[in-house]
Amino acid sequence: MTKGKKWVLEKHFQGMPKRSDMKIVEFDLPPIKDGSVLLEAVYLSVDPYMRVFSARLSEGVTMIGEQIARVIESKNAEFPVGTNVLIEAGWVSHSVSDGKNLTKIPPYPEGVPLSLALGTLGMPGMTANYGLVDVCSPKAGEVVVVSGAAGAVGNVVGQIAKIKGCKVIGFAGSDEKVAWLKQLGFDEAFNYKKIKDLDATLKSVAPNGIDIYYDNVGGQFSSTVLDNMARLGRIACCGSISSYNDTKPLLLPAVHGTLIFKEITMRGFIIFSYRDRYPEWVQRNIQWIKEGKLKYKEHVTKGYDKMFDAFVELFSGTNTGKAVVEV
Ligand SMILES: NC(=O)c1ccc[n+]([C@@H]2O[C@H](COP(=O)([O-])OP(=O)(O)OC[C@H]3O[C@@H](n4cnc5c(N)ncnc54)[C@H](OP(=O)(O)O)[C@@H]3O)[C@@H](O)[C@H]2O)c1
Repeated sequence: MTKGKKWVLEKHFQGMPKRSDMKIVEFDLPPIKDGSVLLEAVYLSVDPYMRVFSARLSEGVTMIGEQIARVIESKNAEFPVGTNVLIEAGWVSHSVSDGKNLTKIPPYPEGVPLSLALGTLGMPGMTANYGLVDVCSPKAGEVVVVSGAAGAVGNVVGQIAKIKGCKVIGFAGSDEKVAWLKQLGFDEAFNYKKIKDLDATLKSVAPNGIDIYYDNVGGQFSSTVLDNMARLGRIACCGSISSYNDTKPLLLPAVHGTLIFKEITMRGFIIFSYRDRYPEWVQRNIQWIKEGKLKYKEHVTKGYDKMFDAFVELFSGTNTGKAVVEV
């Protein structure tokens, strides 16, 4: 009998997640039936959405999440032993599947790590494609502002905006992150923690207004960006990480006057509604990587037992690029 481990949400998070809110539980996996496979996690994803979605989970259930797993026992000819797959199995070390919820990982160009299936070639990379290209329709010469720019989604957004010929301005939380954004080709990059006057900074780099705002952080920062939008601007409301650990609602200025008089489109989206389009975007990102137009960085934490630490570090900005846990 194979033994597995799972991270259980013991108590709903209040404010910043605490280690005591979760616990690791051992469990027995059933023997696999005909048509099934036994999987072992290789890389697990930690993502900000887990903080938000956890409020909808019942206490005592396994934490949600996606992982790259390897088939270690197979009674399904489509997934022989050694196959690497994506599965939304949650924070588990082992799982059993009948194959229906598995996605095979396509071949990557030489040197591209498998773990990228959770980052630039996975859900965050898909989010960048949909949110920037479909929601905001960038045109050459337009000014694009990206918050959370050195994170898993934000860095891809900025690089695609450069591919589309836009002027790209990124905001991130450290000087090292800013230096990396400049290396990626961002026209301007700022450490938002050091800016004294965000409004003046935006006016200096986008004197004619911002055409597109890709919002990963929400809160007061985004209200100030909204005030600096150009007429007919587009805003992709992708995330609001600045408020995920708030214990009471943040009150911000009303947006209606600005949206109406500047004829701005502000659109939220959930990438999981567009899963059928992932293969198209994965191939597009692979092509850009091959052409040297799309670079990537990962923040790898080693050890299944470190899942919680890797997760909570998302809220202190420890990661540059995609945060993953290597088992
Ligand atoms: N709508 C969708 O379908 C969808 C899909 C994926 C992700 N998202 C959202 O997109 C955003 C980025 O996700 P990601 O996976 O790319 O995460 P990420 O950016 O790789 O990691 C989180 C980053 O957020 C920043 N951060 C943390 N606390 C903050 C705060 N209080 N204020 C401002 N920034 C803060 C930190 O960077 P700094 O050092 O720069 O502060 C941290 O490194 C999140 O809001 C996430 O929920 C939405």
